[in-house]
Formats: sequence, structure tokens, C-alpha cells
Amino acid sequence: MSAVIEVANISKSFGPKVVLKNVNFQVEQGESLVVMGGSGTGKTVLLRIIMGLLEPDGGHVSVDGKIIQQLSIPELFEVRKQIGMCFQMAALFDSMSVAENVGFALKRHTKMSPKEIQIRVDECLAMVGLKGSDNLRPSELSGGMKRRVGFARAIALKPKILLFDEPTTGLDPVMTDVIGRIILDLKHELGVTSITITHDLKSAFAIADRVALIFRGECIAIEKPDAFKVNPHPVVQQFLRGDADGPFLQDPPPPKRNRQEANV
Ligand SMILES: Nc1ncnc2c1ncn2[C@@H]1O[C@H](COP(=O)(O)OP(=O)(O)OP(=O)(O)O)[C@@H](O)[C@H]1O
Ligand SMILES: [Mg+2]
Repeated sequence: MSAVIEVANISKSFGPKVVLKNVNFQVEQGESLVVMGGSGTGKTVLLRIIMGLLEPDGGHVSVDGKIIQQLSIPELFEVRKQIGMCFQMAALFDSMSVAENVGFALKRHTKMSPKEIQIRVDECLAMVGLKGSDNLRPSELSGGMKRRVGFARAIALKPKILLFDEPTTGLDPVMTDVIGRIILDLKHELGVTSITITHDLKSAFAIADRVALIFRGECIAIEKPDAFKVNPHPVVQQFLRGDADGPFLQDPPPPKRNRQEANV
């Protein structure tokens, strides 16, 4: 297997705030990598660097053997056509209908006829359980529906690579499972290579070939789910337990109070 995405020694700071410190990993062809980490640890920043939307201070990213940071703007656009990005906030075009949002890249980057575009849009909307909502506007959608439209838009061009920034946040458990299954289907049917950021452990373990954990700007673990679950690192174990006590939080939580104290 060969690496489709290589993240090599990526560092990024904003002013004095160090966000990423020498992050290294590779994602193989057809692999599904799930990246987890606390809020504000630089997960979205990492995806933006991979997409070439943000410049790292050090290191580079290569996608399909092309170093993103060395590409001209037209070359970067070519590479981006192979990447479906599902942003954390669905980032839909408010002035466009659902169908226009999902079909946007098809209209822009392909020679598909309006009829062909409509068929592909319908296919994508059906995949995310939104069949028939073509004519709705983003303002008429719930938060979860917006996320699913963003997801349909990300897969419209049948990309080789999918980057998902918390694709299931705000969705109910059933729809979370649906999205997880779509990611798995895309992987199995089309060999899609993906990086998914999620806080949802259940869906992480369902879709991941490997799981990574970012802590204080560093990738402290990257391994198969079974190995990750028994990784003795105290931060990994605290993350898995979802416990406030431990090294995970920058600021320690207030001490636990017993019930008697709490009633005073
Ligand atoms: N353009 C920017 N300018 C300045 N600071 C930024 C910028 N983008 C991100 N940051 C900072 O970088 C840090 C990491 O942000 P990022 O959005 O990557 O976190 P995250 O891990 O995705 O968190 P969450 O789980 O809450 O989405 C935060 O402290 C954020 O304020
Ligand atoms: Mg984020």
C-alpha cells in the first residue's frame, strides 16, 4: 500500500500560541484514519493545512505525491478536486437551494448536463437520508440537516479523498450511524481514503482503520482501534473514560464535591 496523504513535521502557531508541534503521519490508499483530541487542539487547523487553506510554519503535506505547499494556485485547485471536505460548520451557500449546494462543484468542475447533475444530486441526497429536499434553502434546515447536506456536497464529485471535520456533531445516534456507514461504504466500494475528526468514540471505532489522538499539539498515539483502546498512556485512557480528572485538560477541573458539601 502507498501513502495517499503524508503529513510531515507540521508545525503551526498563531502568535505566541503553539497549536501543532511536529505532527507526522501517513494515510494509506483506502485507509480510514480517525483523528481525535480535545477542543482547541488544532484538529481543524490540521485539516485546513492538508487542504492548502492554511500555511504551516514548518513541515509539509503531500497528497498523491504532490507537496501541497509547493503547488501553484491552479495546481492546488486540481488536487482539491480529488478531495471532498466536509467542514465543521456545514458552510452552505445560504442563497442557494439544497440541490444547488450539492451540485455546485459538479456544475463548476464537470461537463455534466443539468439532468446528469440532478441525478447525481438526488443520489447524494438519498445517501444522507434527505431525498426530496432539493428545493429547500439552508435557512429552512435543522442543524443536523445542514450537516448532511454538507456531507452530500462533499461526496458529489466522487472524490478519492474525504476529509470530515466532525461530520456527526449535532446528529442523533441513528443518523450518526448512517453517516458512519456511508463512510464505510465509500471506503469499501470506491477505495476512498479518509481522515475523519470526531469526538464520538462509537463512530470512531466503527469507521477507523487507525485512530490518532492529538494532545497539546502533538500526535501522541496513532494505531489500530484495538491497540488504541488498551494504550496505557494516561491521556488516551482519560479520553476513553471521558473523565474530567487527569492530565487531559489544560486547566484542572474544580475538585469533586460530595453531596453533603454540594447541598450547603
Ligand atoms: N486563523 C486563526 N487565527 C488565530 N488563531 C487560530 C486560527 N485558527 C485557529 N486558531 C486557534 O488554534 C487553536 C486550534 O484551533 P482548531 O480550530 O484547530 O481546534 P479544534 O481542535 O478543531 O477544536 P474543536 O474540537 O473545538 O473544533 C485554537 O486555539 C484556535 O483559537
Ligand atoms: Mg475543530
